[in-house]
Amino acid sequence: MQRSLTGIKPSNAPHLGNYLGAIRPALRLAQEYESFLFIADYHALTTLRDREAMRAYTYDVAATWLACGLDPAKIHLYRQSDVTEVFELTWVLACLIATGQLERGVSYKDALAKGEAPNAGIFNYPVLMAADILLYDADVVPVGRDQLQHLEVARDVAARVNHVFGEGLLVVPEARITEAPLVPGLDGQKMSKSKGNSIPLFAPQKTLRKTVMQIVTGSDPLEAAVEARGSTVYELYQLVASEEQCRMMQESLRRPDYGWGHAKQALFEALEAELGPRREVYDALRGDEAKLEALLAEGAARVRPIARATIARVREAIGMRSRP
Ligand code: ADP
Ligand code: TRP
Repeated sequence: MQRSLTGIKPSNAPHLGNYLGAIRPALRLAQEYESFLFIADYHALTTLRDREAMRAYTYDVAATWLACGLDPAKIHLYRQSDVTEVFELTWVLACLIATGQLERGVSYKDALAKGEAPNAGIFNYPVLMAADILLYDADVVPVGRDQLQHLEVARDVAARVNHVFGEGLLVVPEARITEAPLVPGLDGQKMSKSKGNSIPLFAPQKTLRKTVMQIVTGSDPLEAAVEARGSTVYELYQLVASEEQCRMMQESLRRPDYGWGHAKQALFEALEAELGPRREVYDALRGDEAKLEALLAEGAARVRPIARATIARVREAIGMRSRP
């Protein structure tokens, strides 16, 4: 079975856009592969300088994925920082990556363009990411388009290592661009935590309803026949409701006794049907950090032998003694 691997930065508590745009499709795809899913906490350190936030977001992300259906017996769920072998490979790769390639990195260039003084972690971000991938012999890496450049670095350096130290030493990974639906936020723009337009994934039921009611719609009077398509309410509804339900909403909105308020209520109910049971699991898990720690530790223990085998192979190939 081919291996698929992807990392998630623990930089916020997940919202509905993350769920519909990333988590749900990733879990569907994961069924076709031996899947590795890790929390990229050392990547988050490039911007996150708050001990409590680091801890909380790490648990938020782990509990979210588990509540959304990640079966830890089938998918390797672990924390990047728990498998320290990644740093050994990071150094080896750093010695084979030209600084010029890192200077062309989009995040690094963006930071410079904004007049910031980027730290060396941001500069070296793609090196650590390449190590994340190559350490586990991943065949495919499902990522959003914004991560393509990082994937190119991983592919280039894998090919270079193979060329210099022996073909077949590292698996050259392939990017699998995830064409997830673009989930609109309350204002119709792309839902994003930084835009303040997001619907939190596991907020209490009451808060979820209140947030859904804030979705911006036209100010058509109730009697007016309105077109569902193109509205934020309907776009979100389509992502969680059945075809039959969608057709009904389209028809209902043309009736004089059915308006946006009713449509929002229907959306809330469809969201609640999808998220309600998951929220219960989330709350139970999130309230049990010892259990989350145990699950993450188990995940790390399962993948560590793979990491060790790669390091042993690489050390041998570069002319270092294989550690006893
Ligand atoms: P944010 O934009 O809120 O900061 P992130 O950049 O942390 O979210 O995104 C994490 C994952 O969720 C990525 O795979 C990203 O593509 C996906 N994602 C985030 N927002 C949306 C959205 N509005 N629609 C679809 N996918 C999204
Ligand atoms: N850089 C990725 C992001 O910001 C997270 C990440 C870290 C990652 N290491 C990875 C993704 C390895 C895929 C493979 O979303």
